[in-house]
Amino acid sequence: MIKLSSLSSLRGELTVPGDKSISHRSVMLGAIAEGDTTIHGFLSSEDCLATIDCFRKMGVSIEEACVPAERADGEERMETVLTVHGNGLRSLKDPGVTLNAMNSGTTVRLMSGILAGQSFVSQITGDDSLRSRPMGRIIKPLGLMGVMCATAAGSEKLPITIFGGQVQPVRYESPIASAQVKSCVLLAGLYADGPTFYTEPALSRNHTELMLGSFGANLKVKKKPGESAVTTILYPGTILTGQDIRVPGDISSAAYFLAAGLLVPDSCIRLKGVGINETRDGILRVIRAMGGNLVTENVRMEGREAVADIAVRTSRLKGTVIGGSLIPTLIDEIPIIAVMAAAADGTTVIRDAAELKVKETNRLEEIVTDLRLMGIGVEETDDGMIIHGGTLTGARIDPKGDHRLAMAFSVAGLAARGTTTITDERCVRISYPDFYDDLLSLS
Ligand code: S3P
Repeated sequence: MIKLSSLSSLRGELTVPGDKSISHRSVMLGAIAEGDTTIHGFLSSEDCLATIDCFRKMGVSIEEACVPAERADGEERMETVLTVHGNGLRSLKDPGVTLNAMNSGTTVRLMSGILAGQSFVSQITGDDSLRSRPMGRIIKPLGLMGVMCATAAGSEKLPITIFGGQVQPVRYESPIASAQVKSCVLLAGLYADGPTFYTEPALSRNHTELMLGSFGANLKVKKKPGESAVTTILYPGTILTGQDIRVPGDISSAAYFLAAGLLVPDSCIRLKGVGINETRDGILRVIRAMGGNLVTENVRMEGREAVADIAVRTSRLKGTVIGGSLIPTLIDEIPIIAVMAAAADGTTVIRDAAELKVKETNRLEEIVTDLRLMGIGVEETDDGMIIHGGTLTGARIDPKGDHRLAMAFSVAGLAARGTTTITDERCVRISYPDFYDDLLSLS
């Protein structure tokens, strides 16, 4: 349990931990590449450790070291460096046990694409939350690629058994903009004997495509002018070669500090080395639309990923409308955006976000419940919510094991009247083990 109350100021600089999506992908691609992959700034959180554990169980040697970070800005900091010894596309060994993705949707969905191409039958499970999340979204395209997946009769839930081996090329039109589904299909496509075409209604995060490209895969992206749908084509047959990767800071983790810096009075925060890939930067666009004082500085490329330092100052925020193709670029930030909207002047409408119902919790329902507990007027809609900005009042919040709810409502507690209790904050370990220490370092 942790108790938070309003702060008078937040000031200072912070380097947020490595991007979770990129950390998962770097281990997975490293495992199926030829040669060593070195990963600087890897996120050592529970989700990413689940990925490491699964690939170790499949015979991949992964070494972990904690070393002083080499940074251009000269700041002294320790970071995790991983070395993954890859042995090629089809080199994974039958683990002989059920793989456990724990709480991590990214682990199970991306790894399933890789397992589709291995010559053994594998089984994956997860914790209670992950076992309640939909897997039909990967079972369907994998089935069209000739890969049979079995779950308990009619459930399309974990545990899942994947009958790996032969993979056929596919032209798949996904009804949802999901990077996990896209990545699953593209990774399976590496094992097909022809090109894989994957179309999504709007571009979801493209870290898999960027990283596959740097490992030597052959991909093309097609988008018709004026349409939001995007088609990614993967041509298999190239050798993936181990790479040296620097993982940028996670914008989804930075988001809590951006919001805290905007909402807590007399604040000025600078977040260093944050990934600002345009498929992830919706939060920045929303903050600007809400009138937040936000500046990006020192914009640069680290490998194929755009990175910047981001500074925010206390601002009076106003309501906004968020929907359409903006949603996939900020899907994990909606809990903290809802908190900003709760403290803003006027009304904020969030729509086209039904995917929130199938995250670690039903985030739509949970955000609405928790904001109401904090005294805010909120209407739940089929695919989002309408938030009437007001005064946040301290409350007892149960994040139900959802790391993003725990962090978002901790920030709400800093801007609320009275005391806010987060009943079990330990779930922040899923994506940001040092979240509360970092918060303390700025206060
Ligand atoms: C992720 C994709 C998103 C996101 C998740 C991480 C990824 O999920 O919510 O936290 O790393 O590919 P969906 O693909 O379900 O939208």
